[in-house]
Amino acid sequence: MTAFTINGRAVEVSAAPDTPLLWVIRDELKLTGTKFGCGAAQCGACTLHIDGEPVRSCVFPLSAVEGRSVTTIEGLSEDGSHPVQRAWVALDVPQCGYCQSGQIMSASALLARNPSPTDAQIDQAMSGNLCRCGTYLRIRAAIHRASEA
Ligand code: FES
Ligand code: FES
Repeated sequence: MTAFTINGRAVEVSAAPDTPLLWVIRDELKLTGTKFGCGAAQCGACTLHIDGEPVRSCVFPLSAVEGRSVTTIEGLSEDGSHPVQRAWVALDVPQCGYCQSGQIMSASALLARNPSPTDAQIDQAMSGNLCRCGTYLRIRAAIHRASEA
C-alpha cells in the first residue's frame, strides 16, 4: 500500500509501486480534472503539485508519493476562487480547455514561489505546458492578473 494525502484527504492505494500517479488519480481516486496528453512528460497536461512543486504525474511513480502531499486542480480551491482560477475566468483563457488544468497548476506553483514574475520568467516556467489552441498570450496575461490580485 502507498499512503499519501490528496487535496487534504489521507488515502491508501494498492496499485503497483511503478504505476504512474496520473493513472491512480484518474482511475482509482476518480479525480479526472488532471488530464492525460502525451504520457511522456512532454506536454504538461498532467501537471499537479507534490508538496507545492509542479510535477508531471504521467511519469511520476506511485511509490515516490509515499507520505507526501498531492494537490490536483480539484484541490486548488473548493469553489474556483483561487486567484489564478479567477484570472483565467476573467480573461476567458481556455479554448478547447484540455491543457488548462495543467496550465493552471503550473501557473499557481510559479506564483507561489514568485508572486510578481516577469514575462520571461512566466515563459520559462510555463514552457513545458503545451497548448495546441495557442492560448499562450492569454495565459501570460492571466498570470499577470493573478499576480496583481
Ligand atoms: S501527459 Fe504528462 S506531460 Fe503530457
Ligand atoms: S485550450 Fe486547447 S489545448 Fe490548450
